[in-house]
Amino acid sequence: MASIRVENIEKTFGKFKALSGVSLEVRDQEFVVLLGPSGCGKTTLLRIIAGLEQADKGRVWIGDRDVTELPPRARKIAMVFQNYAVFPHLTVFENIAFGLRMQKASPEKLKANVERAAALMHIENLLERYPAQLSGGQRQRVAVARALAVEPEVLLMDEPLSNLDALLRLEMRAELKRLLAESRTTTLYVTHDQVEAMSLADRIAVMNAGRVVQYDQPMKVYQEPANTFVGGFIGSPPMNFLRLPVEGRQAKIESLTLDLPTPVSGPEVLLGVRPEDLEAHTVQQPQTFPAEVLVVEPLGPHLLLTLSFGKQHIKATVPPNFEVRAGQTLWLRPQPDRLRWLDPSSGQALMMR
Ligand SMILES: Nc1ncnc2c1ncn2[C@@H]1O[C@H](COP(=O)(O)OP(=O)(O)OP(=O)(O)O)[C@@H](O)[C@H]1O
Ligand SMILES: [Mg+2]
Repeated sequence: MASIRVENIEKTFGKFKALSGVSLEVRDQEFVVLLGPSGCGKTTLLRIIAGLEQADKGRVWIGDRDVTELPPRARKIAMVFQNYAVFPHLTVFENIAFGLRMQKASPEKLKANVERAAALMHIENLLERYPAQLSGGQRQRVAVARALAVEPEVLLMDEPLSNLDALLRLEMRAELKRLLAESRTTTLYVTHDQVEAMSLADRIAVMNAGRVVQYDQPMKVYQEPANTFVGGFIGSPPMNFLRLPVEGRQAKIESLTLDLPTPVSGPEVLLGVRPEDLEAHTVQQPQTFPAEVLVVEPLGPHLLLTLSFGKQHIKATVPPNFEVRAGQTLWLRPQPDRLRWLDPSSGQALMMR
């Protein structure tokens, strides 16, 4: 058993509250991504789980062991740090072998594990070099290889791909996913790249300002964001939020009426809709509303449109061969099964049913 469980973690630096009551469970063999903007507390949470930082309150469990009071080395965790500290006086081989030497692994196992981890990170031809002779991206891969080489039960990774160029990052992402699925290592992985999070995670814990604001499967987080923060942070471009007047159990967009799933007390409601869930037409159709095209951006797989609807701006995507120019009026049909309804004052999704 190597699940990770944190309960009610609080952490304050001086007067600054970095973590406010964070609870989270990573199941045995699960790959969980912590996703959130810079400064939201991701690294702090990882360091508390690793035992490098002491929480003011709360408990940390690895499997069925309460490790809250244990020093880092007794927690049986491997961690890849955001600043990927490698030992400058050791070769790449010895850097990767470091944890295995500490464990007093046999020479055969040591060599085999180092070579396997190095091959995986595409640094097998750099084993004799010293860190000063490597690029930043190569050093980062040494740090990841070192963590993988010890075959930990629990792996904590803090932005392990951040120093790689876009192409290598894409490749490593897929390889890491394959490897960690194969080795069944319980992994908690930090990133602020939402695409990386969607691609890798069994579940994503979205953090904002020291709290976990949503914890769910990637597509669930994408399609059913808990609030405007999550809908805006995940997805590029972000989810649209339109403030609409309410009449009875319906919201109105011009002549289009949309049924609300639940009664709304206030005069207005927020409609959350993804750019790809607005179907565009050049002439008026049933179940559409008009918006004026402000900008057309050809992005390859699709055109990204910015439209104005009254004072509000809307992003929509259309196929690359769609004939459209700025100044034109389009008729947009929101896909009825893809709508998210939120409270305009709190920004929280309305409770359904
Ligand atoms: N040792 C410290 N002393 C004071 N403040 C700290 C300390 N460590 C972290 N903080 C503050 O706590 C907050 C959370 O920091 P943390 O490093 O966990 O953020 P993060 O989510 O990892 O951000 P990033 O994506 O930029 O790495 C930040 O506002 C940071 O300035
Ligand atoms: Mg960080």
